[in-house]
Amino acid sequence: MGLPFVGETFGFFTPHKSFSIGNFLQKHRSRYGQVFKSYLFGSPTIVSCDLALSRFVLQNEGKLFQSSYPKSVRDILDKHSLMLVTDADLHKKFRSIEIGLINKFKYTPDSLSNIDKLCVSLMESWRGNQLVLFSKESKQFSFNLMLMNLLDMQPGEPLGLQLLEEFLTFMKGFISIPINLPWTPYARALKARTRISSTLKQILKDRENRKDVELVLRPAKRDPFDEILLKEHLNDVEKVCIIRDLLFAGYETTSGLLSLLVYFLAQSPRALQNLKDEHRALRRKKKEGEPLNWEDYKQMEFTIMVINETLRCGNLVKFVYRETIKDVEFKGYHIPVGWKVLPILSAVHLDPSLHENPSEFNPWRWTDPATRKKVIPFGGGLRLCPGSELAKLEATFFLHHLVLNYRWTVKEDDYPMSYPYMEFPRGLLIALEAETTEF
Ligand code: HEM
Repeated sequence: MGLPFVGETFGFFTPHKSFSIGNFLQKHRSRYGQVFKSYLFGSPTIVSCDLALSRFVLQNEGKLFQSSYPKSVRDILDKHSLMLVTDADLHKKFRSIEIGLINKFKYTPDSLSNIDKLCVSLMESWRGNQLVLFSKESKQFSFNLMLMNLLDMQPGEPLGLQLLEEFLTFMKGFISIPINLPWTPYARALKARTRISSTLKQILKDRENRKDVELVLRPAKRDPFDEILLKEHLNDVEKVCIIRDLLFAGYETTSGLLSLLVYFLAQSPRALQNLKDEHRALRRKKKEGEPLNWEDYKQMEFTIMVINETLRCGNLVKFVYRETIKDVEFKGYHIPVGWKVLPILSAVHLDPSLHENPSEFNPWRWTDPATRKKVIPFGGGLRLCPGSELAKLEATFFLHHLVLNYRWTVKEDDYPMSYPYMEFPRGLLIALEAETTEF
């Protein structure tokens, strides 16, 4: 259980490459097996590297386990945030609202064309550029996407740029020691959250005023966003919390996925070639400049395999936090009530007993339908990520435009690190070259 009070927290949090499980888990797993106890963030904790136990934990949300994030996350996210809410009815209500909003992004032709347009303009902005700091670009891109679809805001609007800066500060305090002194990442993140909330409140107010005028002129014009928020009679605090939740959950993860795709594909020429072939074939079936649609997305089989493999190897979310709400018995293990339980998603993805050569990036392993049952990048049970398909859809559109327009190499010795949130320490600098092959 480690040292008094801090236990093994520092060892557990030591950064490592995200396509490995790191020294701490490696050593503990070989010494104690797939499931072991430890003392982390001031609590006795069960660490699960085992697929069956992790699945059991996720599937029994609300019955045997509940979400239990550490203090820094709880303070920074706010108690209304979906990831933190443990009251079953409240969770159900907010989850269905957020799913409604996410579906609006996925299924309306307008929002699909927004995604396509933004991809095209990103590719345009790189013309003539040889070097691009990709992590920064992908954060801006996915944040703009969320702003466009969620709040009708166009890229480059000053309030949008300001919000992105605040979110970057917000993220730095997310996994930090909760000491509230002006220079700590935690204190800065709390302040950033307050500023984000007041900016969002202002944006919503402006939007409502603008919509009131539009609705008098064209009463049928109410869009699904307003429908959902109006129907549920949400107050301002709840509306702001929902928007902040989606902006946060939607931009950081999607931009991380895009960076990982660029990184892994740069090292896998065969997968990249296959991908180019798939997208060229699709382009040949469409008119020049015609935007992608839902049917195109559904046809991109190899692209989806590449995305799934990237999620398995890249491990955007290393683990999730739970605690027991009852004494739990599972396959001979006894977990007392009140203990923390951490299902380690990356340990399942990189488990050699589940995946052959687990550290190898191999999209073709997804031709075997069994692979699907041996990964959990989006969690599971009642808290299964509601944005999983949206993230894949955005990544698919982005890859389409990227592979048709460019070739690239990764400059500098950079790789994805788990802090435990995934980041490229040098920002993933890439050298671009225009794709000249005709199709
Ligand atoms: C590749 C991208 C993504 C990954 C790997 C990912 C991963 C996850 C994981 C593992 C969870 C479960 C957390 C838990 O059980 O405590 C989760 C929850 C969540 N995700 Fe995602 N996510 C991604 C993209 C998105 C997007 C694009 C959105 C929204 C636009 C989103 C919104 C959410 C929300 C609202 C929750 C909380 C669900 C709940 O507690 O009921 N995610 N995500």
